[in-house]
Amino acid sequence: MTYTSPMPVVDGRIYEGSSLELKDLTMAYGPVDVLRGVSLTVAPGTTTCVIGPSGSGKSTMLRGINRLHEPKSGDVLIHGESALQVKPDVLRSRIGLVFQHFNLFPDHTALENVALALRNVKRMSKGESRRIAHQRLAEVGLAERTDHRPRDLSGGQQQRVAIARALAMEPEVMLFDEVTSALDPELVKGVLNLLAGLGQRGMTMLVVTHEMKFARRAADQVVFMDEGKIVEVGTPEQIFDAPKSERLQRFLSEVL
Ligand SMILES: Nc1ncnc2c1ncn2[C@@H]1O[C@H](COP(=O)(O)OP(=O)(O)OP(=O)(O)O)[C@@H](O)[C@H]1O
Ligand SMILES: [Mg+2]
Repeated sequence: MTYTSPMPVVDGRIYEGSSLELKDLTMAYGPVDVLRGVSLTVAPGTTTCVIGPSGSGKSTMLRGINRLHEPKSGDVLIHGESALQVKPDVLRSRIGLVFQHFNLFPDHTALENVALALRNVKRMSKGESRRIAHQRLAEVGLAERTDHRPRDLSGGQQQRVAIARALAMEPEVMLFDEVTSALDPELVKGVLNLLAGLGQRGMTMLVVTHEMKFARRAADQVVFMDEGKIVEVGTPEQIFDAPKSERLQRFLSEVL
């Protein structure tokens, strides 16, 4: 294994996750509705995993929550407050989104990738931004890799830099979209352990994933989507051991 243990430094609930609520959220690309009335509650400090076939609207839902793509109707409440009333750049520091591809600056070190975001978004001084960046990188198990550039880090380590960068904004909610699907198999576990650790330490998380074992282990709630709708919501035991709908039964028989 080429990754270091992701959770070496800090213990306890260090994050203050907020609640997240979707209220009848509808989203479209042009005339085509791809999210069709999605309602969902994620309690503060809990982890919800979203599963479902390709094209079912999982990424679109995440993009709507932090308004990378504007919803057509409905609402998103963060800590009870409408996300549609919050300026998009403020919203994106309150709701962190991490993708499959990490989008790091290739010519900057891990430390500078995180520190630059703090200077640009939080208007921090150089010294302060580097101090906080060090802490956040330590939280994701990269205390010893802060001076490496992305090309000198494994894919899993690069993804952890991207996660540290999002955490540095002190988000109230974190959204993850298939963050392990571009990684070599041996690196997947380290990133999933990191995600599970964030959940245990109080972050509110919505995690789109194909990793069913992870969903079973780390989720408080699992959501199954198909064709732009939520078909079933339940505990991991309800979803994986006693799926009600024929659609979910078929999906699980294909992926498990
Ligand atoms: N930029 C876009 N313009 C037009 N249609 C889009 C766009 N992005 C996604 N779609 C369509 O919207 C639907 C939902 O796509 P979405 O990416 O949300 O699915 P997904 O559940 O994330 O799938 P996957 O598991 O493959 O990532 C699909 O039919 C897709 O083709
Ligand atoms: Mg997707």
